Amino acid sequence: MTNHSVDINRLNAFAEKMVKEKKTAVGFPCNQNVKFADFYHWYAVSGLADVALNNMGDPRKPSLYSLNTHEFENEVIDFFAPLYGFSHAEAWGIVTNGGTDGNNHGIYFGVHVLSSRSQLKPILYVSEEAHYSVMRLCDLQGLEMRQIPANVKGEIEVQAFEQALDPTRPALIVIAVGTTFKGGIDNQDAIDEVLARKRPVAVYRHVDAALFGGYLPFTEHAHLVDRSLHNFDSIAVSGHKFFGFDEPLGLFLTTNEVLATQNPFRVSYLNASVPTITCSRSALAPLKFWWQIHKTGVEGYQRQAELILKNALYLKQRLDEINYPAWKNDISNTVYFRRPGEWVMRKWCLAPYEDDRLGGKLAHDIVMRHEGMHTIDHFVDDLILDRKGESDTEPFQ
Ligand SMILES: Cc1ncc(COP(=O)(O)O)c(C=O)c1O
Repeated sequence: MTNHSVDINRLNAFAEKMVKEKKTAVGFPCNQNVKFADFYHWYAVSGLADVALNNMGDPRKPSLYSLNTHEFENEVIDFFAPLYGFSHAEAWGIVTNGGTDGNNHGIYFGVHVLSSRSQLKPILYVSEEAHYSVMRLCDLQGLEMRQIPANVKGEIEVQAFEQALDPTRPALIVIAVGTTFKGGIDNQDAIDEVLARKRPVAVYRHVDAALFGGYLPFTEHAHLVDRSLHNFDSIAVSGHKFFGFDEPLGLFLTTNEVLATQNPFRVSYLNASVPTITCSRSALAPLKFWWQIHKTGVEGYQRQAELILKNALYLKQRLDEINYPAWKNDISNTVYFRRPGEWVMRKWCLAPYEDDRLGGKLAHDIVMRHEGMHTIDHFVDDLILDRKGESDTEPFQ
């Protein structure tokens, strides 16, 4: 008999490296202030770590597979529904695999809503600075897409949208609330004015609020993700961005009215309709979300939102002090700036971008909860060194 064993030394070395590197990972919207050790401890001692849970099917319908966390998933959706302006009676949603999964559902559901209102094929409109997943999903779902230029702040050019809009065809509009690189927020009021003027045969609005949708509901700018004011049909938010989950997950919310237009594919073995794109979904993710909501509460999320916005402002001020070309949009935790040398890019895990309107090569720092003032000061020190032609690749402590 062979003796299988896990190379624990190798795993420990890997874990040590990750724990060290997370401190300087500031170029991606992943909140490294992850706090799930107590959850995993409970999960193991409760016996659930030895159970194959699975949230297949519609969480609002009784499932024949009883080993699920649908009840917790529904409570997560019920917690967020009013925060995004959905009434309890109208809201339907799921905990997704992440932002792209939420966008996939938004676009897919949107196509079905539009085809219930018109025989004509829809056109999807989205800004050029929206996340690439929208392009990928258009390709996947075989949709005609019109990419609309964005202004220098990363917001959709509303005039260009008006020119591109074909009112004789149904319009599926993906609205960016926080673009990936610059944190641009599309102007929903201006988009609505265009739609009211041009009156396309049918309209569906999906909001991609992957990062900003996490914190906006807990700020004075909550109206930007409020369906009761902006009348969007669905919204996707990532869980591993603002909320600080240890793995990709997210939220997708829409209405029961939208749900009713979907093809239910009556799946007899699941005893219910399966409106979701994937059959199996994580049961662990909703459980972790439920745990976090109860531990953090609205006040906790408010404090976290305030902190990242305050620290992003601090970073921008520090860069202004040293005359480093840098920009930050209002209500944004994303600071973008002239791209530094390769050693800074690598040490701080920065992502590159290009915009000739801002002098060409850029990078950005997305200020999440693990990036406090102390870390920001070190980062700015490195930019100063880099500008002098010096480098310091010592890991940050
Ligand atoms: C605006 C936006 N939408 C969607 C996504 C994709 O989200 P996920 O990585 O959770 O699939 C991202 C990821 O950075 C994003 O910035």
